[in-house]
Amino acid sequence: MKKTIALGGSNSKESINKRLAVYSANKIDNSETIVLDLNDYDLPLYGVDFENEKGIPKDAQRLIDVIASADGVVVSLAEHNGSYSAAFKNAMDWMSRINPKLWGERPMLLLATSPGARGGQTVLNSAAASFPHLGANVIATFSLPSFYDNFSDQSIQNEELGAVLNEKISEFKNAL
Ligand SMILES: Cc1cc2nc3c(=O)[nH]c(=O)nc-3n(C[C@H](O)[C@H](O)[C@H](O)COP(=O)(O)O)c2cc1C
Repeated sequence: MKKTIALGGSNSKESINKRLAVYSANKIDNSETIVLDLNDYDLPLYGVDFENEKGIPKDAQRLIDVIASADGVVVSLAEHNGSYSAAFKNAMDWMSRINPKLWGERPMLLLATSPGARGGQTVLNSAAASFPHLGANVIATFSLPSFYDNFSDQSIQNEELGAVLNEKISEFKNAL
């Protein structure tokens, strides 16, 4: 049995990205989904002075260890002003102080969604370009536009978009 992490790039308790990540990871046969919630990790705002005075929080190592324990990672990014949510960027910054290849060279399905018509495409493009430098093996990317129009009852209602995502999930599964 493989292990796949599902991570929403947000600290929202009702995160739509967490929903999309869990939905996608659950579609992979013969794999257990490990839901990773940033709210379960105590990571103060990164600062050089904080690090010099207090060191790296132990939860940054805990995050790295959870990722390393899995066979692959499904990340769905929240988009805040065209970029990462502060909580997600902060977690990556802390992890990078331990290991710049923080994604552990694991296969990654890189997703994004938002209520808007572009569905987080801007942050998705940014991550697709930079994550390989952070040790991610990005297998496929997909942005789900207009989340509330296209996702309900715990699944994607738009058939065309659902088929595209299924194809990406299948590519990712084959890389696990
Ligand atoms: C500060 C802030 C900035 C946002 N900027 C964008 C944006 O640039 N593009 C976008 O599509 N949605 C934007 N949104 C809307 C988010 O996509 C929406 O809140 C979404 O639910 C975030 O994902 P989450 O539920 O997984 O946290 C923004 C929301 C906030 C609070």
